[in-house]
Amino acid sequence: MRLNVNVVVNGRSHALEVGAHETLSDVLRERLGLTGCKVACDQSVCGACTILVDGDPVSACSTFMFKVDDSKITTVEGLAAGGVLTRVQEAFLQDGAFQCGFCTSGMILLVTALLARDPNPDDATVQQWLSSNICRCTGYNSILAAVRRASAGLRTEAAA
Ligand code: FES
Ligand code: FES
Repeated sequence: MRLNVNVVVNGRSHALEVGAHETLSDVLRERLGLTGCKVACDQSVCGACTILVDGDPVSACSTFMFKVDDSKITTVEGLAAGGVLTRVQEAFLQDGAFQCGFCTSGMILLVTALLARDPNPDDATVQQWLSSNICRCTGYNSILAAVRRASAGLRTEAAA
């Protein structure tokens, strides 16, 4: 069975015909070439494939494509408008919040969603959000530092 799905991905409209079994990560990676959406566990455990659907973090590996019909999707490729890194991306760079990088795009999108809801989250809130995404390399301290840096930057920006 084929289904028609209309989505806006990183600001571009796509009219797609998809199989009922096709996942969001299949479509993003294999049909749209957006390989920043990483797939590791492929069963909604590690968070590597996290992308945003209408601003909410979602595991693309375990979301059927037909379920996101009529939504706006953001992948890591859609963040740096005009080549200018977002506060969160800049903070990850400055704090060296990655090593192998496999978890990084998912982490950045997760933190982007968190700070959009709460620009000044306390440590417990940050840790609760990060618990959905696994990093096997960094030990998380540099990621926490990046979240604090991005949060402080956003608050300064808002106060200016
Ligand atoms: S690859 Fe999707 S949650 Fe692990
Ligand atoms: S940087 Fe390697 S898994 Fe996070």
